[in-house]
Amino acid sequence: VTRALAGAAPDDERRLPPEVVFAAGLRNHHVSNTAYPIAHQTTWKPYRVARERQEDVIADSWRGVSDLCLYAHVPFCEVRCAFCEYTVVGRDESARDREYMRLLLRELELYRDALDLTGATVQGFDIGGGTPGFVDADLVAELVETVRAGWRIAPDVELSIETTPRLAALQPAKLAAYRRCGIERLSMGVQVVDPDLLRALRRTGSSASLNARAVDSARAAGFRSLNLDLMYGFAGQGLESWRATLEHALALEPDHVTLYRMRYKLTRISHQAPSVRLDDVREQAHLAKAILADRGYEATTGKTTWTRAHGTTGTSSYLTRRVRDGMPYLGFGLGAQSFSPTTIAYNDGAAGKNLAPYERSLVERRLPVQDLYDLPLPHVMGKMAAVSFYFGEIDGGAFERRFGLGLADAFPHEVRFVLDRGLMAWAGESLRLTPTGADASNGVIALFFAPSIQRYLVERDPDRAGDMTRARRAALAVAGEREQPVALEAAHA
Ligand SMILES: C[S@@+](CC[C@H](N)C(=O)[O-])C[C@H]1O[C@@H](n2cnc3c(N)ncnc32)[C@H](O)[C@@H]1O
Ligand code: SF4
Repeated sequence: VTRALAGAAPDDERRLPPEVVFAAGLRNHHVSNTAYPIAHQTTWKPYRVARERQEDVIADSWRGVSDLCLYAHVPFCEVRCAFCEYTVVGRDESARDREYMRLLLRELELYRDALDLTGATVQGFDIGGGTPGFVDADLVAELVETVRAGWRIAPDVELSIETTPRLAALQPAKLAAYRRCGIERLSMGVQVVDPDLLRALRRTGSSASLNARAVDSARAAGFRSLNLDLMYGFAGQGLESWRATLEHALALEPDHVTLYRMRYKLTRISHQAPSVRLDDVREQAHLAKAILADRGYEATTGKTTWTRAHGTTGTSSYLTRRVRDGMPYLGFGLGAQSFSPTTIAYNDGAAGKNLAPYERSLVERRLPVQDLYDLPLPHVMGKMAAVSFYFGEIDGGAFERRFGLGLADAFPHEVRFVLDRGLMAWAGESLRLTPTGADASNGVIALFFAPSIQRYLVERDPDRAGDMTRARRAALAVAGEREQPVALEAAHA
């Protein structure tokens, strides 16, 4: 434990009692989730690296890495959905997609030169967004070819890309082109089907018939690994509306279904969060579990992706490696995040969500990093553990390989607490949520956060009116912007 806390700022030296943290996580169930860290402006302040030292610290932190994942971010979309937490640019910038994809290639090249990763193997590669399906297929193919030419990719990697059902339905030729360049997994967001809710969420141009056409196009193009994203936890989304979404999606017979509970933090509809109660969200999760299991989909308790491709995780190689194995990843593109063994970097655009700073860095041939944090172990462990909860479990073997310390040694009180309360149980080397734990996952996850984040949660009053609005205004001030909502924290998570 002493070793685990080495290099930490005073606020990160002592964990709070598990029962206090657990209760705080549950109270703050809208923010205590896999999006780690929380309130980085204060909690990560001691670890921020000055700009002039960034390149050296990055180069040091990647030295000796033998396996990694790559992620390329494409920030363009046809519409800007009101619920979206991702780094997406406005319509006026969307016309610059070709130019942007060129910059992405330059960034890949800069990293190849800056990092000594000779001999390292890429174990996962996702193209996400935003909506990569927005840009022409030749640009995507060029990106894939550049990665293949410059990096050694493990033979079993399933390349994955995201699009929207609307684009997949209306531009089937793009899907065929993805298959031709070796992309095997396709993911699209159905989200919800209720037309009134879709309108309220400003997800225009979406419909049940387009979803069906999209799936037909994907199958015709030869995709055998097709994922649909569904969302719950919206204000005013009743159980029957959620049931209709699940039934609609399952009638399309996707290979995998990923369930996203709405995270409100710093989105355009953050003010709606207080009206969404944890009990209602739990009921929605139970309904999804019952329906998916009944239709032959499987997922371990608490896992967000369900699959009927038995024996697989249902997630892309990138996500599986990143989530289950805690593998380091390099993110390219606007606002993208990279996680080395000791650092987290956020690219230009994470705060301002505009292309200019990203573009400037690359034109000047600098790594386009906006913020870099050199983290002590409690935060690296907190990050790995938090992300693990996408799978509902922490893989103790992967944890020990990464940190040289067993889970029960790093978190002695916390592990005892979850076992005693029946919140988690050992399944082989993994510490896995039980059904009771899955219902209380916002409390459980907080137990593994670093002390400064735990303290923040304990002190945070979830009922304080305008709390999120204030955080959002602060983020806007930092970005020096007025118009676009700035998901500084979401981008940082
Ligand atoms: C990067 S988005 C890309 C998907 C694609 N652009 C689309 O909309 O179909 C991946 C998924 O994240 C989920 N998502 C977006 N905003 C979210 C939020 N605020 N909270 C939870 N999940 C969210 C949605 O289900 C979405 O499909
Ligand atoms: S949900 Fe998808 S389409 Fe909507 S804004 Fe986010 S990334 Fe774009």
